[in-house]
Amino acid sequence: MNESENAMSTSISSPEWQRLRDEFLHRFAAPADLLVRAPGRVNLIGEHTDYNGYPVLPLAIDREIRIAAVRRPDDQVLMQNGRRAFAERFFRLSEATVPFALGDWGNYVKAALAGLQDRMPHSARGFTALFDGTVPPAAGLSSSSALVVASALLFLHVNEVQVDRLELADVLARAERFVGTAGGGMDQAASLLGRPGHALKIDFFPLRVRPVALPFAYRVVICNSLIAAPKTESALLEYNRRPLECRLAVLLLCRYLSHKTGRPVSAQRLADLAAFPLSEEEAASVLGPQSLSLAQLLDRLQMSLPELLRVLHHAALQTPQDGFKLLPRYLHVVREAARVQAACEALEQGDAEEMGRLMAASHESCRSLYEISTAELDRLVEIALEHGAVGSRLTGAGFGGCTVSLVAREKVDDFIAAVTRDYYETFLACRRPETMEKGLPPDAIFATEAAAGAGLIV
Ligand code: GLA
Repeated sequence: MNESENAMSTSISSPEWQRLRDEFLHRFAAPADLLVRAPGRVNLIGEHTDYNGYPVLPLAIDREIRIAAVRRPDDQVLMQNGRRAFAERFFRLSEATVPFALGDWGNYVKAALAGLQDRMPHSARGFTALFDGTVPPAAGLSSSSALVVASALLFLHVNEVQVDRLELADVLARAERFVGTAGGGMDQAASLLGRPGHALKIDFFPLRVRPVALPFAYRVVICNSLIAAPKTESALLEYNRRPLECRLAVLLLCRYLSHKTGRPVSAQRLADLAAFPLSEEEAASVLGPQSLSLAQLLDRLQMSLPELLRVLHHAALQTPQDGFKLLPRYLHVVREAARVQAACEALEQGDAEEMGRLMAASHESCRSLYEISTAELDRLVEIALEHGAVGSRLTGAGFGGCTVSLVAREKVDDFIAAVTRDYYETFLACRRPETMEKGLPPDAIFATEAAAGAGLIV
């Protein structure tokens, strides 16, 4: 996909862009001549599979991060945000790897630059920019990755550097770890490579993307539980615990497979072990029971703590109070990977009922095995299914955020009205009255179209 194809999806003269350009002119007393957009994403299925090397099935959504900017003659970056809650930020290009405070919005822009630094020309130039957008923050719709992607495209354009999109997605996935989350590569790839009317089957290591047509008779509806899931703040420890548990499962399985096959087996990720036939019973005997203490883990690995830390490249190990839950995490990941494959086939055959069944199984697994759901997300899924969704599940990292539902096109309006009544006005208003004090926030619930990937607006 090239820039002009992406640029065609949005018009420079649309009221939203006009407003942003006017605001830029008002704040900086000069017209913006660069406009960049990067969409958020919603994941249909394949949760927490990406960093394990297994595929995902998201789509880019019609909510996006937008930037209006001008190139600067020097190496400075001056950024303001349309949302007044995000204060002005300033830095020099040489300060890319010196973060602002944890959770600061400027870190996402720095993350993009840090990832691209060795591709930038010696005398790279910065920009003055006004950021805005329509992706709800901390809602599991990847507003943060969209911010990284949009910033990266701006840095590249300002410095006339070309990078292939697949490669850029890979670079930015690694770069986003700068903000402290051990995420996979789904969000950046979906934002860069989105295709109207299609979900994307994304495979990793190496990154590959295949568009999968969405059934025209159905729409994708996003419902925000209104429980914030800030991945760089409160949810950070819980999020990062999952990749760690998966990595520990890999270490134990490698040890077991080395004994079993009589030759050394080494792997980085669960998907690297897919070539070895391994029944769930066998996996249970290696990884079970449900939870292991640190002492049990070290005993099974036949390692000291310093040895384990060296292998993990970690300075310290957070031992969860309820122990390391390797078996449930493993079962979720390998079963979810199989569901992604089945979901692609269901969509390709236009079998929405089967897709719905797979989404339900995914949600249940996210809830009980991966433990990333909340009471609010569970209730939202139940309500969606009661009101005619063929499938519904939590989407994204979890611990709050949104659900994704597949709803017959002609039922969407009734669906939105019924979920608004039963979830927001009844369940949530009673359980968390503070979230509904100012009424229903805009975009709490909306049907989305699959959007084109990020690009410059020309
Ligand atoms: C976050 C991460 C992704 C992925 C999802 C869970 O959004 O950034 O890489 O791991 O969580 O599927």
